[in-house]
Formats: sequence, C-alpha cells, structure tokens
Amino acid sequence: MPGGTPRGVRGVAILGSTGSIGKSALQVLARQRERFRVVALTARDNREALDRQVREWQPRLSGLVAERGPDLLVEAATHPDADIVLNAVVGAAGLDATLAALRAGKRVALANKETLVMAGDLVRQASVEGGGELVPVDSEHSAVLQCVAGREGGLARLILTASGGPFREWEPARIRGATVAEALNHPTWQMGSKVTVDSATLANKALEVIEAHYLFQLPYAGLEVVVHPQSIIHAFAEFCDGSVIAQLGFPSMELPILYAFTHPERLPDSGVRRFDPVAVGAMTFEPVRTEVFRAFRAGVEAGRAGGTAPAVFNAANEVAVAAFLAGGIAFGRIAEVIEQVLDVHRVEPVRELDTVRAADRWAREHAHEVLA
Ligand SMILES: NC(=O)c1ccc[n+]([C@@H]2O[C@H](COP(=O)([O-])OP(=O)(O)OC[C@H]3O[C@@H](n4cnc5c(N)ncnc54)[C@H](OP(=O)(O)O)[C@@H]3O)[C@@H](O)[C@H]2O)c1
Repeated sequence: MPGGTPRGVRGVAILGSTGSIGKSALQVLARQRERFRVVALTARDNREALDRQVREWQPRLSGLVAERGPDLLVEAATHPDADIVLNAVVGAAGLDATLAALRAGKRVALANKETLVMAGDLVRQASVEGGGELVPVDSEHSAVLQCVAGREGGLARLILTASGGPFREWEPARIRGATVAEALNHPTWQMGSKVTVDSATLANKALEVIEAHYLFQLPYAGLEVVVHPQSIIHAFAEFCDGSVIAQLGFPSMELPILYAFTHPERLPDSGVRRFDPVAVGAMTFEPVRTEVFRAFRAGVEAGRAGGTAPAVFNAANEVAVAAFLAGGIAFGRIAEVIEQVLDVHRVEPVRELDTVRAADRWAREHAHEVLA
C-alpha cells in the first residue's frame, strides 16, 4: 500500500513475530484490523514462518536477523510508520531496539523484560529524552498497570503472582535432575522455551521483580511474590491506605498484548475467554520456596544490589539456560552457574550503555568458563 498509515490507524512493528508472543499479537491484531496496521515483522532465522506472516500482513519492512544482522531490529523499531513497537525478542538481543524505539518517541509494548533488567535506568532515561512510552506486556506488570491506571500516587506494595512452574511441589533432588521435556511442561502458560525454563527455575519471577522495580519505581522492600498455581490473579497492588486491587483473567497473553497497544483505553475483543468464577473454582496461594528455587533468590539479590548486577544475572542465566536446553548441563546447574558468576562479580554503577555491555560480555564469558 503506498503512502503512510491511514489516519486513526496505528502502525505496529513486531520484533520476534514468529515467537509465542509475536504469534499471539498477530491473532489479536487479526481481530482489530480497522484499528491497527502491521508495518514491520522480524524473526531470527525462521524463514518459513516469517514468509507466511509477510504474505498475510504485507508489512513495509520484514526480515531475518540471521541474514541482515541485529541492526534490522533497530530499523524496524524506528520505522517511520510504526507508532507502537512490540518487542517480543528473547534476551539481551532486544536491548538496542527498545532504546532506539523510545528515543524515536514510539510506544514500546515490552515483552522483552531482559531489556529493563539489564539497563532499567538507561531505558527510562531514553524514554524521557525521546518522548517514548514503555508499556509492559508481561501479564503481571500489565495487571499492575491496569490496577494503578487512572489512580494518581499512593501505591505502596506490589505482589506479583507466580504459577510456581512444573516443579512447584517436587523434592529438591528430583528438581536437580529434571529433564528438558519436564522443564518445558509448564502447567498454565504456553511460551517460548527460554522463558518456560525461566519459569521452571523461577528466574523469570526474579526478572519480573526487577522489571517491576523499574516500571513502577518501587523499592525492593515493596515488591513481593506469591505462588498462585491457578494463574488467575496476575498481581495485587496495595495502596497506602491498605486497600488492595487485583487484576484477574484466565491465563492468556492476548489481553495484556492488546492492553499494551491501547492503554489507558480499552477495545472490545471478541477473542478473549470471558471470566467465569465458577469455572475457576478455588484459588490458592503459598510462599515461594526460596531455598529450593535458588535462581529466584539470586536474581532478587542481584536486583537489590543494583548497578551491573541485574545485567550479570540475566547474562549468566541466558548462558546456563541455553546450555541446559542443549542437553549440556543438569537443571540444577542453572542456579549454580548464576550464583557462581554473581559471586565473583564486582558490581559497578551504570551510567552508560558501555558499562552494561561490558558486564553482559564479562558474565557470558565467565558463565562459559564455569560451565567448562
Ligand atoms: N511467551 C509468553 O507467554 C511470554 C509472557 C511474558 C513475557 N514473555 C517474554 O517475551 C519475550 C519473547 O518470549 P516468547 O515466549 O515469545 O519467545 P519465543 O517463542 O522463543 O520467540 C522469540 C522470537 O524472537 C526471535 N528471536 C529470538 N532470538 C532472537 C535474536 N537474537 N535476535 C532477533 N530475534 C530473535 C525469534 O525468531 P525465530 O522464530 O526465527 O527464532 C522469535 O520470533 C521474552 O523476553 C519472554 O520473557 C513471554
């Protein structure tokens, strides 16, 4: 289609369109064609899936990072026809595109939580400087945003929920030897393999605590996690007068994705399963077994330490999870690698991106040494 995007229609660039979040986003957009237009689609190396999407959506820009290099993500994130950039890439690879989109004044619908974990202050700074806007896609953070939207101030505490993953009730020795298939067998969410393993170690919940710290500007003392195996309540927001507001829904990423596109407004969506408390049945809550899920504990401690520690936690976790998925290490080694890398890291304050990049590089190299 020649020319720009029609008036009133918002252009969406999807980074990581062939992944779990990317595909859910296209399902949402297929029901909202009069409101949004897909202007860019990128993937890493899945040519077949990308070609299929390109035939259907006819974006102005599309490509594989494996062929065109990482600058493709920045090009898509700053495309002049994109009003919204959905960053659904996995891991540190998403950072530059998030920063570039915010500097270019875009709304970033952020699924790539690793971006905020690595460089939370720099990401916030980029949005202030460029006039961009960061809106979370993670269901817990979307829940918080929905609880606080339209309410000025007074937020005192957040409680993020965690399903507990597939090993919630397992004995530590059995968890240690869990197979890849067992780790990928998540009880309530269908997700990409990296985030599914992160959910099994609960490293994902530590990443989310750090993400919440930067998004909602709360100290770590005001950020808690509770295990809620049914994944119906996504977060609780407690206000200074003790009132608590929670957001509920059947587990599906489609609602948080659409909300990230429309916040603070809402659009009708015929595709969302309507809530039914009777079908939900009992909802239960229990504490996180922090002595068992050590990656969670290490991640939250890295968040509290601040500076380069969260980027190091993230990088060590990425290396260890990749090794586990490749069959190279036991499940229990993931947390040990993270701990061993963090133990010898000298935390530095983060004032510029180069510091983050150096910490990320160092942590990856050190994690590989630990693995060897
Ligand atoms: N899935 C969920 O329900 C969920 C929920 C909350 C948050 N998140 C977060 O959302 C992000 C995406 O998760 P996902 O589950 O959708 O992952 P996924 O299914 O593995 O999809 C990842 C997408 O990113 C592309 N990609 C992977 N590595 C890349 C790289 N180095 N450079 C450029 N593109 C790359 C992949 O392309 P190829 O297909 O070509 O490999 C794919 O399109 C993660 O940060 C995750 O933590 C996911």
